[in-house]
Amino acid sequence: HSHGHGAARGLRFEPVEPNTEDRVVVPEGYTQDVLVRWGDPVLAGAPVFDADKQSAKAQALQFGYNNDYVALLDIPGDRHGKLLVANHEYTSEEMMFSGYDSENPSREQVEIAWAAHGFTVLATEEHRRGGKLTTVPRHRLNRRITATTPFELTGPAAGAELLRTSADPEGRTVLGTLNNCAGGTTPWGTVLSGEENFNQYFAHTDAVTDPATKERLARYGLSGGASERKWERYDERFDVTKEPNEVNRFGWIVEIDPNDPESTPRKRTALGRFKHEGANVRLTRDGRAVVYMGDDERFDYLYKFISKERMRRGHGRWVREHNARLLDEGTLYVAKFSGDSPAGQIDGEGALPSDGEFDGRGEWVKLASGDRSHVEGMTAEEVYIFTRQAGDKVGATKMDRPEDVEPSPRSGKVYVALTNNTKRGTDGAAPADEANPRNQNKHGQVLELTEHWNNPASTRFGWRLFLVCGDPEDPATYFAGFPKDKVSPISCPDNLAFDAHGNLWISTDGNALGSNDGLFGVAVRGRREGEVKQFLTVPKGAEVCGPVIDDERVLIAVQHPGEIDGASADNPLSQWPDGPGKAVRPAVVTVWPKDGRRIGD
Ligand code: FEO
Ligand code: CA
Ligand code: CA
Ligand code: CA
Repeated sequence: HSHGHGAARGLRFEPVEPNTEDRVVVPEGYTQDVLVRWGDPVLAGAPVFDADKQSAKAQALQFGYNNDYVALLDIPGDRHGKLLVANHEYTSEEMMFSGYDSENPSREQVEIAWAAHGFTVLATEEHRRGGKLTTVPRHRLNRRITATTPFELTGPAAGAELLRTSADPEGRTVLGTLNNCAGGTTPWGTVLSGEENFNQYFAHTDAVTDPATKERLARYGLSGGASERKWERYDERFDVTKEPNEVNRFGWIVEIDPNDPESTPRKRTALGRFKHEGANVRLTRDGRAVVYMGDDERFDYLYKFISKERMRRGHGRWVREHNARLLDEGTLYVAKFSGDSPAGQIDGEGALPSDGEFDGRGEWVKLASGDRSHVEGMTAEEVYIFTRQAGDKVGATKMDRPEDVEPSPRSGKVYVALTNNTKRGTDGAAPADEANPRNQNKHGQVLELTEHWNNPASTRFGWRLFLVCGDPEDPATYFAGFPKDKVSPISCPDNLAFDAHGNLWISTDGNALGSNDGLFGVAVRGRREGEVKQFLTVPKGAEVCGPVIDDERVLIAVQHPGEIDGASADNPLSQWPDGPGKAVRPAVVTVWPKDGRRIGD
């Protein structure tokens, strides 16, 4: 463990080298196990998974497809129980169904896909020693939420005309959640997750003629004919010519209470509508909830929401009901960044400016509070439902795809994964600025934001780039000043998490350096600040999601393994996790030290 011992606490492991292996590669001294994969049983009656005989009925009782966000929560009163909450972002029909005809999907295939979206809540059990977990199918807390589960729309835009449909004239009940990407666990015990690329599910937006509606749809990436999955053939609500407002009922942050399998999950309109990556909460000193959120699109924005009410502590029914309304009233803000380097020094090549750092100041610009709009020419309802356009109007800073936004529980500093933006500075698009310092940015950056006086309710902040990602040999990269010959290459940061030592863990999606995606740990303060170390890599075509880092184990979601151009169920280009001749299956993987040590000890 030569390399290991000098490292920061919690990061003492031999880094995994970049590779293109078709397996999960972990550091020496660590072991791994697939905890749960697509099709594994969750609820009573779930049949054994058979890729060739899959049915919608079976899928609704089994673990869904393409796990992204992962939380591991305590189960009250159960010392060795842990509750896994995972979402299922999207389906890859070509990989799921042998002989899939993308022009003519069958009703059964479409209904399988509906049932493979959403969430899984699944009890697991810790082993006496080591980090291994085993699932507990049929546990009383187990639950599946799918694309047809009723959700309640809550908050200031609930019931708005723009949210009413023929099936729901009240505008308060939506069937299902789609494209849930990253997420966060709240201090009051619920799970938040962002509906991200919901646009891909809606058809025939090209037939819309009203100019204002057209413009709104286009701002959210909707402009096409038939949808990729053709769901509109089996449910008219996915056809905007038949049900024009259904699309407005997606693109929200959803909140679920994993401790109550009977609870109705909610879509929180106060948090705005955009391509939500995820949401993470920090409390103000007086207990108000501050929610940090990214809109994952090139040139889109960073947001925060501050609740009006304070969180209450405890588990009683009255406390739970109070906290269940916390995210329905408050103020929504969008971020504006400015740099402090001499003009003309940010040239898109990424070399450090003469003042030595990419850094500056910023402000949170108010968009709406409760029923009041702070954006000229837009009502409050319009601000919540067409939040991107509100951000445009107030001149928010166009970022390089804001993904996970994670406040450090240790320091309160907020870390923002900006995954990449190959369009920056091209074709008249916004050129590099100090917070997004590279044109045609392939590798992304991690920004550190410090609220004024470290008060999350502040409307002013300072910021610096903590990492400018890429090959450390590339002069345009930066690792918080750590010697670049001693760090792992990292590209396309996506999900963020903290361990108990305060280290930041970063998972990647789309490694533009040609190796497989990975999970990295890095100290954010102290002598080892910026020493990025690769902890694991995932199989071919996969992205690393989750992650959860606790003392005993690292939990990751291996999303879309084998998703490579030309791959299909009949021509799999990955054999993970079950080997040759078996279906490629997205899965959640547990990694832990073999000898009973703690992670990174
Ligand atoms: Fe679903 Fe932005 O990643
Ligand atoms: Ca500067
Ligand atoms: Ca993501
Ligand atoms: Ca996270």
